[in-house]
Amino acid sequence: MPPFCLCRWRMVLNASFRYVDGSLWVDDFALGAIAGEVGTPVYVYSLRRVLDNYRRLRQTFAPVSAQLHYSVKANGNAAILGALVEQGSSFDCVSGGEIQRVLAAGGAARQIVFAGVGKTRAEIDYAVERGVGWLNVENALELDYIQAAAERAGAETVRVALRLNPQVTANTHPKIATGHGGAKFGMTAEVIHDLLAKRGIYPRIHFAGIHIHIGSQLGDSQATLDALEKALDLAGPYRQIRTINLGGGLPAAYRFDDTLPPLDGLVSALASRLCGYHVLLEPGRAIVADAGLLLTEVLYVKRQAGQIFYIVDAGMTDLLRPALYDAHHEVLPLCKTSAVGEVAQLVGPVCESTDVLARDRLLPRLQVGDRVALMTTGAYGMAMANTYNARPLPAEVVVDENGEAWRVSRARDSWDDG
Ligand code: LLP
Repeated sequence: MPPFCLCRWRMVLNASFRYVDGSLWVDDFALGAIAGEVGTPVYVYSLRRVLDNYRRLRQTFAPVSAQLHYSVKANGNAAILGALVEQGSSFDCVSGGEIQRVLAAGGAARQIVFAGVGKTRAEIDYAVERGVGWLNVENALELDYIQAAAERAGAETVRVALRLNPQVTANTHPKIATGHGGAKFGMTAEVIHDLLAKRGIYPRIHFAGIHIHIGSQLGDSQATLDALEKALDLAGPYRQIRTINLGGGLPAAYRFDDTLPPLDGLVSALASRLCGYHVLLEPGRAIVADAGLLLTEVLYVKRQAGQIFYIVDAGMTDLLRPALYDAHHEVLPLCKTSAVGEVAQLVGPVCESTDVLARDRLLPRLQVGDRVALMTTGAYGMAMANTYNARPLPAEVVVDENGEAWRVSRARDSWDDG
């Protein structure tokens, strides 16, 4: 049996998550103490790490003066939104609910991009009434709704970016690719040319941008650059289109040995291609993924059919990514051990065979009551949590930016909340 070697794991830890005297810490706190007080399952976020990621991205994309619209769908926690508002971040929202959350966190409507393939009329009305900065449009009928909403709200102009489906295939998991021709997202170049040709019938709409988003967790920049070429070809003839929104997609490192593709090539290619354009980006994962983890406790240990099952109190309802995309999240024990590792299955309590959080994973020998952390779950973790099996949504804890205080930012739901 291979030894369970934690030194290997130092690579996945960042400045905010590390072992101190054998226990896993977030900033200045032992995670065991937080779990002891709040219970499990609980998501824990480091605001310091969120803001470090945000500032690093801002700096990386400074050569193209990119405006960062944090993609709220990755994690809409109020404390995270508030911290990003304070940094001057803009936001990418995909529903009326997300817009409301950003406004409640103190964000300005003008700094919001409202995207989405199926906006309701009520959501469009709300966005226009509140004066959101941009609507990313994916459907001709949306323009009628926006025009009518603008008339009703007395808005002189509403700024719109038309979303191009660039028909490129991104290097990512097929379930999170959005830019290929068969996807429901965006419009073809022909449809967009057509809409721009008859823009006179929408006097209150300012057609100011082209939007692309080809997928998430992109393995390289090639497809983005191919899509950009198509967006520029499309925008070229229209003088009023001065903004290109490149969407999200910047990846996070999920495995011990993941190395992220360097961004300097992408940034210099963008700088040379986008001269004279305003550039918007909608990063979600790259800002929050490695700033969060999910703590869970072992309820039972079952040795059956030659396998070891660690049955924990978090399941696919709390963290859907492994069941939905076979996503990999590293599992770290809260107490470091030199015990020999064993290949085991970390599974949840949900009545589905696919409720496996870590499959065939080398783990330390765990006992009932031991706690482990599922790493890099700050993005699309809590955001996709659900209440299947009438399971309460987990609690969320945030550690403040100076790392010196933590608080429950969202209490665990109770059985009454269903
Ligand atoms: N902009 C648009 C239009 C999007 O559709 C998305 C993500 C983003 C920005 C943010 O993308 P990011 O920077 O986070 O890659 N649930 C999946 C991810 C779905 C992403 C959906 N759209 C997961 O857990 O991997």
